[in-house]
Amino acid sequence: MKKLPILLFFLICYQFSYSQLSDAARDSINRLNEEGLVHMKQQLGITIPNRPGPSGDPSAPNAANSDESKINTYTLPDPLVLKNGNSVKTSEAWWEKRRPEIVEDFESEIYGRLPENIPNVAWEVVSVKDTTNGSYPVKEKTLKGIVDNSSYPNISVEIELLVVTPANSEKPVPLVLEFGFIRWPFGNIPEPETPPIFRANEPGWKEQVISRNYGYAILVPSSVQADNGAGLRQGIIGLVNKGEHRKPDDWGALRAWAWGASRAIDYFETDEDVDAGRLAIEGLSRYGKAALVAMAFEPRFSLGFIGSSGAGGAKILRRNFGEQVENLASAYAYHWFCGNFIKYGSTLTKEDLPVDAHELVALCAPRPVFISSGSPQVEGQWIDAKGMFLAGAHAGSVYELLGKEDLGTTEFPILGKALTDGDIAWRQHAGGHTTGPNWSTWLAWACRYWGDCKYP
Ligand code: GCU
Repeated sequence: MKKLPILLFFLICYQFSYSQLSDAARDSINRLNEEGLVHMKQQLGITIPNRPGPSGDPSAPNAANSDESKINTYTLPDPLVLKNGNSVKTSEAWWEKRRPEIVEDFESEIYGRLPENIPNVAWEVVSVKDTTNGSYPVKEKTLKGIVDNSSYPNISVEIELLVVTPANSEKPVPLVLEFGFIRWPFGNIPEPETPPIFRANEPGWKEQVISRNYGYAILVPSSVQADNGAGLRQGIIGLVNKGEHRKPDDWGALRAWAWGASRAIDYFETDEDVDAGRLAIEGLSRYGKAALVAMAFEPRFSLGFIGSSGAGGAKILRRNFGEQVENLASAYAYHWFCGNFIKYGSTLTKEDLPVDAHELVALCAPRPVFISSGSPQVEGQWIDAKGMFLAGAHAGSVYELLGKEDLGTTEFPILGKALTDGDIAWRQHAGGHTTGPNWSTWLAWACRYWGDCKYP
């Protein structure tokens, strides 16, 4: 119980910017979210209302299921069976036939396609500062990625990026890119390290990364694309569509944020402090979903750290536990996905999805991916930890086909046990809705691949 305030703290931080808005601004966003949903449903010819999703409040009468004994039976699509029914037995068949089928399904039905005419991004270093993190000297650069808006000057997009590398490294360093915040939502000040009480007595993640002689960067997703349906005619999605509505298979915010991460890689490839051959992507919650999408679609990320990504991320969508497809297809969250996804919360059901989350993990193969969650007692059950574990487990056949190691078990392990021997890794830490207490485990695992890490 005494950990409840920790969860509340993080929830408050997430919701803070939104709650700072005036009632009128909030009403306007909600109205535009709703209007965008209605417009997309018209395009799709859907005339029935969306089914309501369950509540995230465990005491509500319509609370989401959190009882393992009430899990529905479901059949997952087999990542190694082609649509024509033939089995995939070779890596060539995976790369040439099956993987493209899975990519097509995710693009057309869930996350949307990248448009062909996305304008260029010009990176500009805004400031360079010598400073410290803990006892470590670091070089801190702030950048903006200015998107060419000559095709539609009404919308401008400037991607915010912070890059921090050890000051005394003699060579370029591996780097973890986080989807996150550069400035704290409580005003225009740098985001502080997570306070010690929230991080299991470990140093903050940034200090841990730097102490290994690695670097970190933070990309601000909302500088690429707003985190609401109201913003879909703005941001990079709006710019490409010249301020108009999306088509049903156009990209949603998760894909747009992941696109932003790819543009950050373009910059890293030009930064002599960074080893662009050793890059990881990390994020939590909705940014954990984005991190998995980025990892799946961007081969230049060599490692992933997918924090409490839940539904729309690593959680098996067919499981009736925690957040459901209906919640994601609602006015609150549909903007994360392409318009076609709304069908699965209205005219179709989750069983109709051509793919499920294990296949998103499989798209990362053979690159190592670490799936992270908090404890049910502290974090709650909305994110469905076991559902995320199972996606990792069911992606294993693809990793094995490609000569890599799977999770090593299909049994959900006890809290705190790290499954890090394989190329799909899992750990449920004892804290709340954060990647915080898993950083030391993740770094030890990453070091196995990246090598070259010094121990403080
Ligand atoms: C909500 C939402 C989740 C999301 C989370 C977050 O709880 O239902 O899908 O992951 O917000 O990003 O904070």
